[in-house]
Amino acid sequence: MKALVLSGGAGTRLRPFSYSMPKQLIPVAGKPVLEHVLGNIRQVGVDEVGIVVGDGGPAIAEAIGDGDRFGLRVTYLPQDQPLGLAHCVRLARDFLGDEEFVMYLGDNMLPDGIRDVAADFRRRRPAAHVVLQKVTDPRAFGVAELDTTGRVRRVVEKPQQPRSDLALIGVYFFTAAIHQAVAAVRPSARGELEITDAIQWLVSHDFEVRASEYAGYWKDAGQLEDVLDCNRRLLGELRGEVAGEVDADSRLTGQVVICPGARVVRSRIDGPAIIGDGTLVEDSRIGPGTAIGSHCVLRNTRLADSIVLDGATIAGTPGLHGSLVGRSAVVAPGGDRSYHRLVVGDHTRVEIAD
Ligand code: G1P
Repeated sequence: MKALVLSGGAGTRLRPFSYSMPKQLIPVAGKPVLEHVLGNIRQVGVDEVGIVVGDGGPAIAEAIGDGDRFGLRVTYLPQDQPLGLAHCVRLARDFLGDEEFVMYLGDNMLPDGIRDVAADFRRRRPAAHVVLQKVTDPRAFGVAELDTTGRVRRVVEKPQQPRSDLALIGVYFFTAAIHQAVAAVRPSARGELEITDAIQWLVSHDFEVRASEYAGYWKDAGQLEDVLDCNRRLLGELRGEVAGEVDADSRLTGQVVICPGARVVRSRIDGPAIIGDGTLVEDSRIGPGTAIGSHCVLRNTRLADSIVLDGATIAGTPGLHGSLVGRSAVVAPGGDRSYHRLVVGDHTRVEIAD
């Protein structure tokens, strides 16, 4: 079995981060979303992965490389324009050959893994096997209707009047039959070749399409609240480890990872939390659910339930919560203490406390 990971897409809901980095590289619990994805793929015994990339291709290739670090062989498949998930399968035709494959949306987090659903697919090897979860608003997703035996009767992309609450989540298993289906579909109203339409083509042409309802945690890490929720969830499984320095005036409680070269001075850290390598935390208090990247500086700051990317500086800021701070960003007092001064990028959000 091969894997096809889709990592194109504009990531508009994660602006301003997606202006400078592909959303699949946003770190969750200290590791890019895409690395979590590749880990799940490796776990089901797949070692050959095609990653479809758009404009963020060079950054993704730099972060993931040839895949060796993950026990994988990675091939990059450039997509000039985001023309839809079925278009990705079309352009991966040569890479996939006639092998069966798992297609995985590169911004979907399933920290409990995909072993059970891979086993479901391997047991029967239907033409397609989709993974579903009940959602409160199915209108934002592909929606499936099943018969009593778990066979898929109908799938519709983002229906206005959904006939079930079972959404297609970002993992699909296919045999080579899908190539005929993606060749047959036409662009949808949003101008994309929808994988949902290709799966419906299989259903209409009497191919077997089956489904598993996913019992684990799933989030499409496409927007801030979901990224923070995933971060919290993954940090909940953290095991503390101190490789860096913690001075005698500091206190750690709960599960805290202090990476090599990090220094904690006169501070308190309540885990679960990760302090990245080479980062300095001084006269600060870090609360649960926080992952701080490499080579950051935090001084006189209180921060909880947040993600801080590499090289950021935060100083003199007493009440930060639920925040995502970008690479090399600076949040600190200026020269004149009588006013705030902001230099914020496009589509940035700054929420001020009363
Ligand atoms: C895509 C699929 C949709 C699926 C969703 C899962 O939607 O088209 O069927 O339910 O991913 O995250 P998109 O993220 O392109 O809106």
